[in-house]
Amino acid sequence: MDNLTSVFAQVRSQFPALNQKVHGKDLVYLDSAATALKPQSVIDRITKLYSYETSNVHRGAHYLGDVATVAFENARTRVAEFLKASSTDEIIFVRGTTEGINLVAQSWGSTNLQKGDVILITEMEHHGNIVPWQMIAEQMGAEVQAVAILDNGELDLEDLKKKLSSKVKMVAFTACSNVLGTVNNAKEITKLAHAVGAKTLVDAAQIVSQEPVDVQDIDCDFLVFSAHKIFGPFGFGVVYGKRSLLEKMPPYQGGGSMIAKVTIEKTTYNDIPHRFEAGTPHVEGAVGLHAAIDFVTQIGFKQIHEFEMQLLKSATDKLLQIPDVKIFGTAPHKGPLISFNLKGAHHSDVGQILDREGVAVRAGHHCAQPLMARLGVPGTVRASFSVYNNENDIQTFIKAVAKAREMLL
Ligand code: ALA
Repeated sequence: MDNLTSVFAQVRSQFPALNQKVHGKDLVYLDSAATALKPQSVIDRITKLYSYETSNVHRGAHYLGDVATVAFENARTRVAEFLKASSTDEIIFVRGTTEGINLVAQSWGSTNLQKGDVILITEMEHHGNIVPWQMIAEQMGAEVQAVAILDNGELDLEDLKKKLSSKVKMVAFTACSNVLGTVNNAKEITKLAHAVGAKTLVDAAQIVSQEPVDVQDIDCDFLVFSAHKIFGPFGFGVVYGKRSLLEKMPPYQGGGSMIAKVTIEKTTYNDIPHRFEAGTPHVEGAVGLHAAIDFVTQIGFKQIHEFEMQLLKSATDKLLQIPDVKIFGTAPHKGPLISFNLKGAHHSDVGQILDREGVAVRAGHHCAQPLMARLGVPGTVRASFSVYNNENDIQTFIKAVAKAREMLL
């Protein structure tokens, strides 16, 4: 066993979910782009919070209240370090990527967009980075336009340059497509957007578990991600925003914690980031994300990237040897996932056959219907790889696809 294989065999042993059979077969989990499995350290951290540290934060006049508040705010510090943000004030806790984009669209959009303005997205966006922009565009009389993609799934930078103008106020794009795997050059896109005076929002949902993110190096104005995609809990996520912008943005929701003073007539608001966190927060989400960040940084992104690229290459090479397979997305810089179809077979049927073999994949439009229209298909099968997969998983997956082909074609 080479060093990388043995490191990741140890990593795999930390995921209890993999010690089970589905339909009588060993589980092969290839759906990490939908949600990552959770390591024991994250499960244990959440259990500890519920066992011994349950208390509300920023409120309790007692010991446990302090323990929970410190744990919650330590998580904010850890996230700020992880993203290389200049301050914890720039880290807002939300329910996930989708809520984060809605927050920025509504709060920034309602104070910065005017009739005739343009919000640029791309053809490869998830619905979570399309619909919130359409909603605020409709409210403000602005327009949403999409930058085209090339046939290999890369962003068409010439089209981006063509569409950038002084009318564009926001460029909102994914750092890594959940369907094509394409990794976009967030720094370059941000530079181009800033040159015409536009702000940028980076949807980092897929990238955070794969590659390091440095918001100051990218120079993006906003960046959002979900804890559950990086081995953390469901229902929790992060908005990074530049202090200069957040300080001028109105609250997204009203309630406890986000206030400075409330009278029946009028409320003044708390400072950032608390101004954007109304109500009792998702404390276990924060501490679970803290543990998840510790988990990935302990392995290290250099090793993670090398390992996942090995898995991607092995799976791609083997899949292409099966006749009738068509892969969507062949960008040179690609995350560890493969979207494909068997020509002549429906993606759902392939997904079901794989499931009976114990192989968990996603089949459908992947919440990216405009991208499906661009690709000219109703859906695809998507296999996504992570730190706990191995070569055996890939062999089982390939055998299952070959079996699906025999059964369906
Ligand atoms: N965005 C998640 C996916 O791509 C749910 O599957």
